[in-house]
Amino acid sequence: PENITVQELSNRMAVRVADIIKFMMRQGQMMKQSDELDADTAELIATEFGHTVKRVAESDVEEGLAGDIVDSDENLEPRPPVVTIMGHVDHGKTSLLDALRQTDVVSGEAGGITQHIGAYQVRVASGQRVTFLDTPGHAAFSAMRARGAQVTDIVVLVVAADDGVMPQTVEAIQHAKASGVPIIVAINKMDKQGANPDKVLSELTQHEVIVEQFGGDVQVVKVSALKKEGLEELVEQILLQAEVLNLRANPDRPAEAVVIESKLDKGRGTVATVLVQMGTLKRGDIVVVGAQIGRIRAITNERGQQLQNAGPSEPVEIMGLEGVPEPGNVLNVVENENRAREVADYRARAKKQRTTGIKSTGTSLESMMAK
Ligand code: GTP
Ligand code: MG
Repeated sequence: PENITVQELSNRMAVRVADIIKFMMRQGQMMKQSDELDADTAELIATEFGHTVKRVAESDVEEGLAGDIVDSDENLEPRPPVVTIMGHVDHGKTSLLDALRQTDVVSGEAGGITQHIGAYQVRVASGQRVTFLDTPGHAAFSAMRARGAQVTDIVVLVVAADDGVMPQTVEAIQHAKASGVPIIVAINKMDKQGANPDKVLSELTQHEVIVEQFGGDVQVVKVSALKKEGLEELVEQILLQAEVLNLRANPDRPAEAVVIESKLDKGRGTVATVLVQMGTLKRGDIVVVGAQIGRIRAITNERGQQLQNAGPSEPVEIMGLEGVPEPGNVLNVVENENRAREVADYRARAKKQRTTGIKSTGTSLESMMAK
């Protein structure tokens, strides 16, 4: 992966391709502009053309970020499942989320929700917790997946009993399958005239979602978000599935989180909803998020409560980022501001290079141009 093409090297050194090819010919090697050079050869050429080579590997700059710390088994603790509700337009995703939110045993009668933060946690009677993501449509989910951000452990696929499998249902199935995430089917609107759950099940079969009664392993729960029926069973199925997945994380390490949504708030600056994936995020932490840096000034949960920290699977709203990150960006806690800037600058450069059309082959010769 440390290779660079002749063309790319020529771009970076502002030297003609022909001159590089000529030089290589003198070394006894015939090359064309699309050929790849390994890092040693590229360095040799660059030195020959008067450049000082400083190899900056992604692994150097990004080294030591949370992903590099390998957790040993005894550091891992159970974490709540992260569940994304998906399905076709109007099949009742939002209604179901709202209904599930009201099953929270802690928040009390009124629901206790003071603000919408795009993600929330429900505590069930057993003391277990489930994190629900209110993904703003499939586009964001795809964007996250494209960036390799695996945010969800389980997909709850909502299908309206009176409407059946529709295009976005199929899309959601494909997302879940591509991510390797198990599906739980929630057949919604069971209260409606014309509800036909059997039709839904056979339609699902055509898309290779095989439910238990047809010999598969996909669980189905019939619900009515409107009448608040079947919700406990749905939560139960989610917890069962979570148990099978054996979800664990080390809370005792610098946090890594993923951005769910973010915006610029007039009074408060950048406000981002993040889902902590490992470690514990603390107030005062210095972070790098994509090409942005920041210091965590406030951590707020969906009830509007100020927290000192947030652990694995906790969705929280944070303040203190200097710029607005994109959904799917990964947030890492780093030791100090210099380190944050180093990583952010590197990422900004890498991004600029990508957008100016210089194809990155994952090369480690980023700053070869330093004269
Ligand atoms: P989008 O976000 O637009 O994709 O829709 P959604 O999937 O979030 O659906 P939403 O929860 O907004 O519900 C769509 C409509 O279906 C609303 O009018 C709801 O009141 C209605 N609805 C949702 N769940 C039920 C249900 O269980 N029974 C009945 N009868 N209506 C429901
Ligand atoms: Mg909705």
